[in-house]
Amino acid sequence: MSKYIIKKCPRLEGQVEISGAKNAVLPILAACILTEKECVINSVPPLADVFVMLEILKSLGAEVSYDQSAKKAKIKAERILRAKEEYDLAGKLRASFLIMGPLLARKGRAKIPLPGGCQIGTRPVDLHLKGFTELGAKTRQLHGFIEARCHKLTGEHIHLDFPSVGATENIMMAAVMAEGVTVIENAAVEPEIVDLAEFLNKMGAKISDYGTNTITIKGVKSLKGARHTVIPDRIEAGTFMAAAAITGSEITIKNADIDHLGAITAKLKEANVETEVINGGLKVYPKGELTAFDLKTMPYPGFPTDLQAVFMSLDAVAKGTGVITETVFENRFLQAGELNRMGADIKTDGRTAVVDGVKKLMGTQVKATDLRAGAALIVAALKAEGETEIGDIYHIERGYCSIVEKFKGLGAQIIRVEE
Ligand code: UD1
Repeated sequence: MSKYIIKKCPRLEGQVEISGAKNAVLPILAACILTEKECVINSVPPLADVFVMLEILKSLGAEVSYDQSAKKAKIKAERILRAKEEYDLAGKLRASFLIMGPLLARKGRAKIPLPGGCQIGTRPVDLHLKGFTELGAKTRQLHGFIEARCHKLTGEHIHLDFPSVGATENIMMAAVMAEGVTVIENAAVEPEIVDLAEFLNKMGAKISDYGTNTITIKGVKSLKGARHTVIPDRIEAGTFMAAAAITGSEITIKNADIDHLGAITAKLKEANVETEVINGGLKVYPKGELTAFDLKTMPYPGFPTDLQAVFMSLDAVAKGTGVITETVFENRFLQAGELNRMGADIKTDGRTAVVDGVKKLMGTQVKATDLRAGAALIVAALKAEGETEIGDIYHIERGYCSIVEKFKGLGAQIIRVEE
């Protein structure tokens, strides 16, 4: 088991370059099997989750190549030989379920294991299945797999009970080649949805009003190959912004899209941290003492649940008391216990956490319980006295690429130790 050892960091400085967004690239890679022609995707981050998704595409029969130094993936699914995903691969990431929509559209059948991913809640797939059923597929659950079949898919009005990111993406991908018009109401509006819709339109799909909560998809007969560059990762950007905030440092974030960061810059402002757009990036700097803030996670453009843990680390050392409410996932405070081991004062009750800022955190041994909880521990470790050892870092490496190198580049003392 590998671990990170991080020493207290008085100050970060310099600049960090943000990679392509994990949550945008995964559905985009899945969408590549909608056509038999080649798709070329740029700004593909070398992440564990991306490698699993590429393996899944290969296992279905697609030709896949990935040039890690150029961050370029080429996928050509001339033939889909299998419409079944293996448990060993799919169990590793939740986004494996995003293959179901494209497989249904291309093959009329799909058999996918119930998905894995972070243990942050029950994470059902009922909204995905409801959408497929309304488009004309028959679905059933059998021995841990979900099976879906259809003779053809037909456009429908689909209303989502919750603006689920994954369900919106999966239904959108299933509907692009359905007969007639599909309307998804109460759709998710995250930037990653917009990125996927733009890629699908480059492939010849006719999707409009994406980025609003009513998406219209006019079915087309077939799709062609396309080239696309994935948007920057707003969660990675937010993580580095939080690292600047906790260490009271000024850093520059390159390749971030300020338009995607509204909720994050607003929350940092409340905490006394300024963000400024400068030539080629964002400058993040402290305006004074870090001040506690309340925070409630919401679907976009609300505060992202994926940064809730990281921002809890800020409240843990800020002046005052902050109340954090998690409305998206039911079990997303796993970092609180680990932060308390470092000396934080966090009380959780259901979906609410009350964080009393402490003067000092202390380095100790902690574990990344999930991807974003792990990122929260790195941010906290930069501020903690002495040395922090973070175990189970495979969670972190599912979603942050070159994180050690990137923090080292900013002057942090962080090493990865193989055990
Ligand atoms: C995606 C992101 C994840 C992020 C989340 C919310 C990817 C690969 N992952 O996950 O990082 O935290 O959006 O921004 O893009 N739900 C149902 N039934 C369903 C689907 C979802 O009840 O069929 C519930 C979930 O349990 C959860 C909520 O809806 O409570 C939000 O989930 P969803 O938006 O679907 O998240 P994911 O797409 O899984």
